[in-house]
Amino acid sequence: MDKPTFYITTPIYYPSSNLHIGNAYCTVAADAMARYKRLRGYDVYFLTGTDEHGQKIQRRAEEAGVTPQAFVDNIVDGIQKLWKLMDISNDDFIRTSEPRHTRVVQKIFKQLYDQGDIYKGYYEGWYCTPCESFFTETQLKDGMCPDCGRPVERTREEAYFLRLSKYQDWLLDYIQTHPDFIQPVSRANEMINNFIKPGLEDLCVSRTSFSWGIPVDFDPGHVVYVWVDALTNYITALGWGSEDDSLYQKYWPADIHLVGKEIVRFHSIIWPIILHILGLPLPKQIFGHGWLLGVAGDKISKSRSNCVDPVRLCDRYGVDAIRYYLLREMPFGADGVFSNEALVNRINADLANDLGNLVHRTMAMIAKYFDGVLPAAAAVEPVDDALLSMAAQLPEKYAADMDAMHFSNALTSLWAFVSECNRYIDLTAPWVLAKDPAKRDRLGTVMYHLAEAIRICAVLLQPFMTTTPGKIFDQLQAGEAQRTWESVLRFGALEAGVKIIPSAALFPRLDLAEELAAMTGPVPETSAEAQAPADEAVPAKPEITYDDFAKLDLRLAKVLEAEDVKKSDKLIKLTLKVGEETRTVVSGIRGSYTAAEMVGKMVVLVYNLKPAKLRGIMSEGMILCAADAEHNLRLVTAEEGLPDGVQIS
Ligand code: MSP
Repeated sequence: MDKPTFYITTPIYYPSSNLHIGNAYCTVAADAMARYKRLRGYDVYFLTGTDEHGQKIQRRAEEAGVTPQAFVDNIVDGIQKLWKLMDISNDDFIRTSEPRHTRVVQKIFKQLYDQGDIYKGYYEGWYCTPCESFFTETQLKDGMCPDCGRPVERTREEAYFLRLSKYQDWLLDYIQTHPDFIQPVSRANEMINNFIKPGLEDLCVSRTSFSWGIPVDFDPGHVVYVWVDALTNYITALGWGSEDDSLYQKYWPADIHLVGKEIVRFHSIIWPIILHILGLPLPKQIFGHGWLLGVAGDKISKSRSNCVDPVRLCDRYGVDAIRYYLLREMPFGADGVFSNEALVNRINADLANDLGNLVHRTMAMIAKYFDGVLPAAAAVEPVDDALLSMAAQLPEKYAADMDAMHFSNALTSLWAFVSECNRYIDLTAPWVLAKDPAKRDRLGTVMYHLAEAIRICAVLLQPFMTTTPGKIFDQLQAGEAQRTWESVLRFGALEAGVKIIPSAALFPRLDLAEELAAMTGPVPETSAEAQAPADEAVPAKPEITYDDFAKLDLRLAKVLEAEDVKKSDKLIKLTLKVGEETRTVVSGIRGSYTAAEMVGKMVVLVYNLKPAKLRGIMSEGMILCAADAEHNLRLVTAEEGLPDGVQIS
């Protein structure tokens, strides 16, 4: 009989910079689910990939002086290496720049247009480049992007629109009659009350102000809006609309689109409507997980100083410890804080003490008392009851939590069982039994129970950890049949008489103070992070003398006028007042400030910089800004009270 299928996806990641631990969180969770379903006998298809188009990437590439394709190729390579390092078992990796994707997106766009669900009009509104999202005036928060709080740009251009408004009632009805469609339930309520009920506006689905996107093939100059491009990856990867759609036939509709909570909106509004218009079935579930927060309670992200590099963590603590921590520490639907301290404490308490000691003590006792040969179990005594009944109940409880993506609860149950095993050692005191030859059978029973309980733990750990279960199975000489889901449904699958092979501690204990010092200090030269392309690192410049510094003539200047430079999406032409003098400066600040916002600002001008022509305009100096890794700029200025023209020293 054919196995049941299970199709799970992660969001496709923006390759605008290296990924951080928050991104890894989502992929590790999807991987745990994929591995769990495989363990349960499903034919699993697990998809991840990269979302490579858009203005943000085009800008980053321009800044790096390379083509967008070369720019993303480099970062995508790093992402694929990260997933390999973290043992992510994806079946495919889709890149939205691949022809198998772009061809089909063009086809979908055309079909929606031909059906009258996409029409041509004018877009006028506010655009947030980092979020690749349009907003109406009322959606802005204090004039800034309501999602990320960064500046937005006023945009008016000819554009295509998708008729979301037409399908509003249908979508509302669908969500209300399919309670599992958006999970957790709180996110469904948020979609209904905050977005659908207030009214869906038609969505602008093409852009003309940049070129790094999938061209609308019947209207050159337009590229497809990145979210329409990105969402369709879930079916283009399966070959929908291509000559071979066998994967689509087999796996669609997806069982779970796993996404972060801030992008549930795109997945539960735009995506279902596109599928509905195309006449295709909807995914069974969109699960919006919470965010990993920094210790200050803010979302971990590349653009903030709190980002945590997964490569560095895996290098230092091992992949299994990191995967375990991510899924154990916080309930999956909710936000949770990532801290080095909590990580080290978990490794010490759960992995080194509870699990590591259990395995180590048990193997050492079998080696010592039975010369390493696993004894058979004899008669059961009342003191065994708690352990045996917990072993009998564990799989069902664990499965219920895993099926609901309650990873943390599943691990909590598993660790309650690990603790019960440790308690069993204390209760049965094998070292006392070992002194009495008449208790030899009893000692053997205790050892067998422990070994078997450890095997069950290793089977259930397989979705979470990728090397530790194998190490435990090897010590126990457990074969394929003793690693399956079915094998945990009956206590007693291990065969007595095998020679166990004790090995080194699974997880060495860590010194908290030492770890905190190491993880907040500089990146060691040998770490993979140090060797990776240092996309975010800011290398120190060579030392200079005071005389070198004194060569700079910095002056305060006031912006009198500002206008966008034509045919550039970065540059603004500024007219500056510097004391009695007026200067023209062309500045690449447009992603972060609008021309209108610049007027009246006091800026710091490099007054004696050799003039240079930019887009045909002579720029007489430059203004100073601070930039983060995402190239979000903030003007450098002086506190109020000084006139323009004064020199800065
Ligand atoms: N490209 C879009 C997704 C398109 S899917 C058709 C995107 N990319 S992303 O790289 O910005 O984010 C990818 C995923 O990482 C999202 O699900 C996002 O929620 C998740 N995370 C980013 N930072 C996170 C945390 N700090 N914590 C948990 N998940 C986080 O969005």
